[in-house]
Amino acid sequence: MNIKKEDLSYYGGNKVIKYKKPHWKWPPKYKEKNNSVLSYYKEEEYNKSGYPKIVEIFESNFKKYIGSKYALSLNSGTSALHAAFFAVGISNGDEVLVPSMTFHATAGPIMQVDGVPVVCDCELDTGNIDPQDIETKITKKTKAIVITHLCGHPCDMTKIIKIAKKNKLFLIEDCSHAHGSTFNKKKVGTFGHIGVFSLDNNKLLAAGEGGILVTNNKLLFEKALLISDFGPRIFSQIKNSKLKKYIETGLGFKHRIHPASAAIANCELKKINFYINKRLKVLNSFSNKISNIPGISPPVTRKNCTRGAFFGYRVFFDNKILNNISVDYFVSLLQAEGMEIRKASNKPLQYLPLFHKNSGAKFLKKNFINFRKFSDYDLPNSEYFYNNTLSLPTFTFEDQELIDSYILAFKKVCGYLIK
Ligand SMILES: Cc1ncc(COP(=O)(O)O)c(C=O)c1O
Repeated sequence: MNIKKEDLSYYGGNKVIKYKKPHWKWPPKYKEKNNSVLSYYKEEEYNKSGYPKIVEIFESNFKKYIGSKYALSLNSGTSALHAAFFAVGISNGDEVLVPSMTFHATAGPIMQVDGVPVVCDCELDTGNIDPQDIETKITKKTKAIVITHLCGHPCDMTKIIKIAKKNKLFLIEDCSHAHGSTFNKKKVGTFGHIGVFSLDNNKLLAAGEGGILVTNNKLLFEKALLISDFGPRIFSQIKNSKLKKYIETGLGFKHRIHPASAAIANCELKKINFYINKRLKVLNSFSNKISNIPGISPPVTRKNCTRGAFFGYRVFFDNKILNNISVDYFVSLLQAEGMEIRKASNKPLQYLPLFHKNSGAKFLKKNFINFRKFSDYDLPNSEYFYNNTLSLPTFTFEDQELIDSYILAFKKVCGYLIK
């Protein structure tokens, strides 16, 4: 292709992608899902106060799907993470090692139980927390590690489990991008002491809003339940005598899932393998097609891993090949061609005021005792990963023509730049 400057839409040429936005349409809409919500409203037994039948059914099915003994559904993935940090006993300035490349909710709730998030660098190929950096950040105050299986790619569980065991640390897996992902054929969420999944509307298992926590440990389950609920459910499910005395009140929160969300999640769970297979087929084919366009490369999936939900599709950008242009200019050229593309959607945690020493939010110190204790981070891999990966829609059911037009737009812009 001999592309001239004036051919680019940015400089007045014709756009490649003319499809109406948004290009990514999720979650799927279908009749059975609507009916699942209606049946919750219609059926008497579904309205059982505190612990409606549909919530119990969803948890039971999710446990079977993941392969865990206990499941607790909550109103968000954030609440599930909060419950997890409380359950493992984070308090009084305990340090929790957190990944740099994640959504802020992986780490924010740590401060709500009076812990200190300590941000670790990432691996360059997956963006996942780097086991080597975990080891350098462990101190006497470290009590737990929380990891995110970023964009559905499992973290290196062999190394991370070894480190957690050696240092007697709790391990929490944030599986919000990774429903159904496997590492050495085992599902994520079953490696750590607790696994947590978001069920918000962008996620593979989209329930409007919601989250679910899984564990094989009864005491951790009971503690997570106590911080999130009160009344009938905890009356029947909490056996531990120290926890039981708070049955009437819980600990001041009510983070139950809405039963309508549980009904939707339960309905979607029946289709989860279908969604995963479809998404993998579409995105793997997209990866193959862009793999020989100079200047960009597709995400890598390691041999012993599967990506399950594949939530968030990120391509690598190599400006050495693309005439040393800035990532912002590259994104602008592609956006002008009609592409829905942006710099990786989640900034590294150390860039965010909540986790950064220069935020100046002194008023927060009153509530978050350990706010801003950790400060100057030097995390070169995460800086690189953030500045050299670009987010695209997680295509699943979209028209092949639309998907192919993304490939044409890449070819056009990269073709112009590498001349
Ligand atoms: C990695 C990760 N963890 C946690 C969450 C929080 O989940 P929720 O939005 O359900 O609270 C998200 C949401 O995007 C996420 O991406």
